[in-house]
Amino acid sequence: MAQMQNTVVFDMDRPLKGEAFKKVVADAGYSQTALAETLGISCAHERQDVDVVYRRVRADSPYNILVRLFWLGRAVSESAIHKILPGLDIEELMAVGLLSREDGAVRSCAKLAPYHDLLLASDFGPELHHQLAAEHVLGVGAASLTLACLTVRRKVETVLDLGTGAGIQAFLAVRHADRVTGTDTNPRALNFAEFNSKLNEINGIEWRQGSLYEPVAEQQFDLIVSNPPFVISPESRYIFRDASLPGDAISEQVVRGASQRLSEGGFACILFNWHHQDEHDWDMRPQRWVSDAGCDCWLICFKSADPLTYAADWLQTSVGQSSPDYGRCLDEWMDYYQKMGIGLISAGAIVMRKRSRHANWFQAHAIDRGRCTGSAGEQIERAFAAEDLLQSLDDDRQLLEHRLLFDDHHRLEHQLKVEDGKWVVQAEHLLASEGVPFAGNVDIFITNLLAGCDGKRTLRELIVEIAGRMKADPDNVVPACLTAVRKLLQCGFLGSVGKSSLLI
Ligand SMILES: C[S@@+](CC[C@H](N)C(=O)[O-])C[C@H]1O[C@@H](n2cnc3c(N)ncnc32)[C@H](O)[C@@H]1O
Repeated sequence: MAQMQNTVVFDMDRPLKGEAFKKVVADAGYSQTALAETLGISCAHERQDVDVVYRRVRADSPYNILVRLFWLGRAVSESAIHKILPGLDIEELMAVGLLSREDGAVRSCAKLAPYHDLLLASDFGPELHHQLAAEHVLGVGAASLTLACLTVRRKVETVLDLGTGAGIQAFLAVRHADRVTGTDTNPRALNFAEFNSKLNEINGIEWRQGSLYEPVAEQQFDLIVSNPPFVISPESRYIFRDASLPGDAISEQVVRGASQRLSEGGFACILFNWHHQDEHDWDMRPQRWVSDAGCDCWLICFKSADPLTYAADWLQTSVGQSSPDYGRCLDEWMDYYQKMGIGLISAGAIVMRKRSRHANWFQAHAIDRGRCTGSAGEQIERAFAAEDLLQSLDDDRQLLEHRLLFDDHHRLEHQLKVEDGKWVVQAEHLLASEGVPFAGNVDIFITNLLAGCDGKRTLRELIVEIAGRMKADPDNVVPACLTAVRKLLQCGFLGSVGKSSLLI
C-alpha cells in the first residue's frame, strides 16, 4: 500500500532554541560529510537505498539516532533518546511540530539536511512517501546546489528569491545582502522556510506568499534568484514541479519578469527548462525572451534531451518505473509534446545583468559534461567583464594591447602516449576546477601563453616572447591566438586588467 505523505505545519508561535538544537545535532556528528559517508554516495543529496542506510545506523548512538529520526523518518523510542541524546528537547520539538509521539516512540515530521553550517527542514521524499502530496516541500537537491553555485554573490542591498521552497537560496543570500525577500505560492513552503529561519536563527528575510512577481509588484532588486517549477509536462501534480502553465511559459515569465525588477547593475540567476526544435536552435527562445530586456545575458545549457528521455527522467523520479501508471503517463507526456511541436527540451540557466543605458549582448554556452561545483560567482563576473571588453573593441587585434590575467582556479591536464619509448603529450585539456565546468583542448602555444598571463605584459608582448622561444613567426600565430583568447575570456579562464571594464 503506497504511503501518502503527511503534511506537517509548524507552529511558528512556539519557541524554538534553534542554536541549542543545532549544537546537539552537530555534537552528535550529524553533518553533511558524515551523512555522505553513511549513505555511501558522494553527495548527500543524491538518491539512496534507505533500507541499506537503515541497516547501517541500527545500533544506538547519538549520530545513528539522528539519522534514523531526521534522515530516514523512522520512529525512535523515547527512552533511547533520553538515554543517548539527553540534550534533545523532545517537548519543545513536539510543540513546534517537528516531532510527533506514537506508542512510546517519537518520529520526525520533517527531514533535516545539514548543508554547510545550516540545518534545513523539508518534507521526506519519495524514499519514504511513495505518494508525495501536491504541496510537497523539496529539500536541498541538485538544482538548488546548481543555482547556489551560479549566484553572483556581490554585497548588495536587496535580494528576491522567487519560489523559495524551504528557503535555501534566501539563507545563502542573506549573508551578502541587507534585505532578502523569499516568495512562494505554496503556503507550506513558506511555513518550512520560516521554521528554517527560526531553526538557524537567521533574521532579515521577509517571506511573502503569491505567484511569480505578484508579492513584490514592481519592487526593484539588486539580485534575483529563482529555481521555479520549470518542468515541461501536461501535469499539475506537484506545486514544486508543475507550474500549470503551457510548455515553458513559467520559465519565460520568470526571465521576462526579472528584467523588469532588476535595479541597474543588478544580476539575476535563473534555472529553467525550455523547448526548441533541434540541436541548432537551442538558444533562440531564451534569446527572444530577453531581446528587449535591457540586460546583458549569459545562457548556459547543461543538457538537451529528446522528449521521451526527458519524460522518462522526470516520471522515474515521481511516478516510478515500477508503477502501473508509468506507461500511461509516458504516453500522455509524449502526446503533449507532439501537440506543442516540441523537438528537444533543454535544461540550463540564465545570468542577466541589467544595463539599460548600453547596447546589450547575449552569449550562449553549451556544457557537454560535468556539473557546477563550488562557487561560479567570480567566474561569471570575470566573463561579464570580459564580454564588455570584447564588445567595446572595433577589432579583436585591439586585444593585443591588453594585459590579461589567468585565473588560477583552473587545471591543465596532459594526455600522454608512449612514442619511441618516451611519453609524448598527445593533448592538453584545460578545465575549470570550480564553477561552471568549462573545458577544452588547447595547444602548446596557448598553454605557454596562459602561464604568462600575469597581468603585467600585454598580449602582444607575450605572443612575441613565446613565439621567439618556440621559433615561430608572431604574425603567423596572432590570428589563432586571438580566436583562442576570445573564447578563454568569454568562459572566465582569463580576465582583463589595465583597461577599465565598461561596467556602469
Ligand atoms: C523547484 S522548487 C525550488 C525550491 C528552492 N528555491 C530551491 O532552490 O531548492 C520550486 C518552488 O517554486 C514554488 N512555486 C511554484 N509555483 C510558483 C509560482 N507560480 N510562483 C512562485 N513560486 C512558485 C514551489 O512551491 C517550490 O517551492
